[in-house]
Amino acid sequence: MPPPILVPATVSDYRREAQRRLPTFLFDYLDGAAGEEVSLQRNEADFRAIQLEQRVLRDVSAIDTGVDLFGTHLDMPVVLAPIGMGGMMARRAEVLAKRAADAAGIDMCLSTVGICSVEEVSAVSGRPIWFQLYMLRDRGVVQELLDRAWASGVRTLTFTVDLPVVGARYRDVRNGMAGGTSALGRFRAGLGSYLMHPRWLWDVGIRGAPHSFGNLAAYVPGAASPNQFKAWVDKQFDPSTDWNDIAWLRSVWKGHLLLKGILNAEDAVNAVDQGADGIIVSNHGGRQLDGVASGIAVLPEIAAAVSGRCTLLVDGGVRNGQDVVKALALGAQAVMVGRPWVYAVAARGEAGLKTWLSAMKNDMRTAFALTGIRTVADIDRSMIRQGL
Ligand SMILES: Cc1cc2nc3c(=O)[nH]c(=O)nc-3n(C[C@H](O)[C@H](O)[C@H](O)COP(=O)(O)O)c2cc1C
Repeated sequence: MPPPILVPATVSDYRREAQRRLPTFLFDYLDGAAGEEVSLQRNEADFRAIQLEQRVLRDVSAIDTGVDLFGTHLDMPVVLAPIGMGGMMARRAEVLAKRAADAAGIDMCLSTVGICSVEEVSAVSGRPIWFQLYMLRDRGVVQELLDRAWASGVRTLTFTVDLPVVGARYRDVRNGMAGGTSALGRFRAGLGSYLMHPRWLWDVGIRGAPHSFGNLAAYVPGAASPNQFKAWVDKQFDPSTDWNDIAWLRSVWKGHLLLKGILNAEDAVNAVDQGADGIIVSNHGGRQLDGVASGIAVLPEIAAAVSGRCTLLVDGGVRNGQDVVKALALGAQAVMVGRPWVYAVAARGEAGLKTWLSAMKNDMRTAFALTGIRTVADIDRSMIRQGL
């Protein structure tokens, strides 16, 4: 067992702490991905393989990492990605994330299947959150979710298009989250694992209730546990969703509309033709189709295909400020980060996430200084030395 970390410095430090704190099935749900996790590894490896071009003697005394995105100023081009069941990893984690995002001057996107509701998270501050939508079979519920999001001040909607079916996540299978276990197995995975993690049990398991899917609680009255909600939601994902639904969404949603989960240039062009204001180039953190390319690998061809007609974000494997600079140099206007924010909040709560976001900003400033730029507008392809 490695010694405890006094001050986490990297995402992997927070990850290690999160692993100690969380019941195994929750850590694996967060940390894992689909199949053999090839795409998950590719996401990080592809970022690591990109080299930045160092430039010197350029007066970098006044650096500004800020950007304007969908009418809002962000102190750095980073948005916290939607994470289903986030609130199982820390007490009311989505609320903590919103507070940390506010402190860092960035936005966060709440998942349809978050633990905290859009109303609860929006109440944190006057700065609106983004809302992530899954298309559910019951379009009445979808319309009501959109109305609630709008009433809560949401103006940026992220519609996730890469979940017509749920990816096969083997760690969840092994931990019995997909069923098929004996009574003893269920005890070990559930209560047994909780008892092995008393700090989590007290802080999240007991004081973090209710553990309903806050946005959906009204529509699944019989459900009492996240697993029961998950079972309902898994049946509600609508594999018949197609481009007509995008046209419908576009007609009913008056705010900014982003499609999340596009990896193909033709799909990206279709999205823009259907009126999407933005695209999140993403393989869902490797959790859907194992073996697909990373977002960062396909970003340049998508940027070329839509050539400035919409705002581009990329996610999957962004782990530090240098990665943000790499993503912008390859055509994105901002990035999303998923697991890192949850590791930080699971490890050290709101303070941990605030510290990590400050570190991201410092990393970005260092990367700006040593690539010889001062503002996001200065970033371009020439900063990439080789690689993708
Ligand atoms: C535990 C977990 C839950 C997620 N839940 C959602 C979700 O509810 N909706 C969604 O659009 N994406 C979801 N994602 C994908 C993230 O929004 C994001 O695309 C991905 O985590 C980015 O990769 P990264 O974790 O390497 O940063 C989830 C990812 C993880 C790890």
